Amino acid sequence: VDPIAGLPLAAPSPAGWVRAATGDLIALLIDHAHCELKAAANAMALAGRHPDRSALVKDLTALAREELRHFEQAHAQVRARGHALTRPQTDHYVKELQGWVRRAGSRAASAALLDELLVCGFIEARSCERFRLLAAALQLPADLQTFYGELAAAEARHHEIFFHHATELAGPAATGARIAEVAAAEAAIVARLPAGPRIH
Ligand SMILES: [Fe+2]
Ligand SMILES: [Fe+2]
Repeated sequence: VDPIAGLPLAAPSPAGWVRAATGDLIALLIDHAHCELKAAANAMALAGRHPDRSALVKDLTALAREELRHFEQAHAQVRARGHALTRPQTDHYVKELQGWVRRAGSRAASAALLDELLVCGFIEARSCERFRLLAAALQLPADLQTFYGELAAAEARHHEIFFHHATELAGPAATGARIAEVAAAEAAIVARLPAGPRIH
């Protein structure tokens, strides 16, 4: 199965990613739980900054609810293994992606929101790819493979929500052009960052 099928990603994760990610299951699950919590918090914060955009607020709050459920599931996996969450680590992938977008700002009107929506969309798409890889990873126990298979299906829809609102905002031409630029930068970041027991 092609892990990036139907996703806007320019390249799959490096070949060694699954082995590195599954080297410490507790660390991976803790990092994953934080990713879901951040996704929920980020969706709520974005909705709060654009209260007049009714359609966006409606989709973001529904998304936040779903991400919070994912957090509860990932947290339950951590607790079931006799562990508690630890403080989140810096997400270098997200930091570098946001940094690249800021340096190479879009020329479209409402550029800041367009870029913010596209960054969210790419984070969703890369997470989806990695959940697909984990769902097929023989290093994982069967229950975790199933868990990641279910999450991959949910996350596959999420990038589309952000890209839909980006297209509504900036139009298909400007959005498509910007997606291509961000896709290339995102793939370069993924190729460069060291792999470890984390989602990104
Ligand atoms: Fe999620
Ligand atoms: Fe998501």
